Amino acid sequence: MSEPWVEKHRPRKLKGIVGQQKAVQGLLRWAEGWKRGKPYKRAALLYGAAGTGKSVAAAALADEFSWDLIEMNASDRRTMSEIKRVAGVAASVGTLFAGAGGRRLVVLDEADNIHGAADRGGYKALKELIAETQNPLLLIANDQFAIPWDIRMTCAWINFGSLTADAIIKELHRICKEEKITADPRALRVIAETAKGDMRCAITDLQTSATGKKRLEPSDLALYRRDRELSVYDFLDRLLSAENAKEVRAALWSLDLPPEDALVWIDENIPKVVVDPASLVRVYDAISRADIFLGWAKRGQTYGLWGYASDLMGAGVALSRGRNLRRAKFVSPGVLRHYARTRVDRAVRDAVAKKIALRCHTSARIARRDIMPYLGMVFKHDKEAADAVVEELELTDAESKFLKVQG
Ligand SMILES: Nc1ncnc2c1ncn2[C@@H]1O[C@H](COP(=O)(O)OP(=O)(O)OP(=O)(O)O)[C@@H](O)[C@H]1O
Ligand SMILES: [Mg+2]
Repeated sequence: MSEPWVEKHRPRKLKGIVGQQKAVQGLLRWAEGWKRGKPYKRAALLYGAAGTGKSVAAAALADEFSWDLIEMNASDRRTMSEIKRVAGVAASVGTLFAGAGGRRLVVLDEADNIHGAADRGGYKALKELIAETQNPLLLIANDQFAIPWDIRMTCAWINFGSLTADAIIKELHRICKEEKITADPRALRVIAETAKGDMRCAITDLQTSATGKKRLEPSDLALYRRDRELSVYDFLDRLLSAENAKEVRAALWSLDLPPEDALVWIDENIPKVVVDPASLVRVYDAISRADIFLGWAKRGQTYGLWGYASDLMGAGVALSRGRNLRRAKFVSPGVLRHYARTRVDRAVRDAVAKKIALRCHTSARIARRDIMPYLGMVFKHDKEAADAVVEELELTDAESKFLKVQG
């Protein structure tokens, strides 16, 4: 498995950053001020949606000005006490450790999610830091309004807007060229439009659908999406023809959906084909008990309960259906499904993120953002590596299934 393309193809220079001309110019103007001495606005606030180039721009700036780059995360409990030291507020530090340009660029990520925000201690420290820093300071935030206005007022504002589909396509093109992939422009457009302004998301999608290919066609994306839907219908068919619990279990396992989602599909589709009232009662009973067990399993992360819930929704439903079935077209649970997906997936997703964060010594947010999509790819393409990850992180069935659907 190759490294994540968002890392591998990250622009190293400011001119490699697409679609953010105004932001890059603003950043340069502010940084030039530091070359001449200490500018009036010692800190710049880079704000905007995820995956628009804020962190990449900070790193490229440091590189071009030959400044040492020091990145810290404001949500970390230790950061605010440590950062004054690296910013050179403590008098003794001076330029002893500074880079060739004589300065270091101090980047404070997640400034909108600062530790100690509740009692305002975090922001008090930040305010002092901005006033006293001896080195250029970049605050990065998704939501600039989450930062108190008196702090915002002391910063140069640099907005990273959501990227246009055209800007995203341009970057995807470049990456395809470097990976020696011939991409149908329509395929790139689909990816770019789906990403909704988020370059990280687009590049990860590209890697998922193009890894190992010489050509990328629109059908590669469409098929990938259709596959998933189809497998649910296949699964429902198999549920209605299964003769024993073992068959049902195998079907459920090969289904590309977390159990919670499978249950919503079952609930929507199976009862309407069951004719016999007594069977229908048993079917509903199995569904509602599966739902209860899933709830418990989710809270307790208990292996055994997942298995029990799966058996109830699978075998419990399938073998209660009776002989007498009516024909009906399976339908997607639609809105209901969407609701269940976001609610339940979020819980599973957060559980996975926590495990990754713990293992990789990082925040759950970063685990979710930078590591999880990559693991998703691993789960999709490399069974052996996936098994190793499951063991290493001690993932439950639901969690590993969740990662599988991410890829
Ligand atoms: N404007 C851009 N031009 C080229 N590549 C980009 C751009 N924006 C993002 N990328 C790509 O997406 C990846 C993620 O971007 P980056 O880390 O800068 O996002 P961010 O704005 O800091 O997001 P977040 O708010 O989630 O931290 C980069 O590694 C790079 O490959
Ligand atoms: Mg970032």
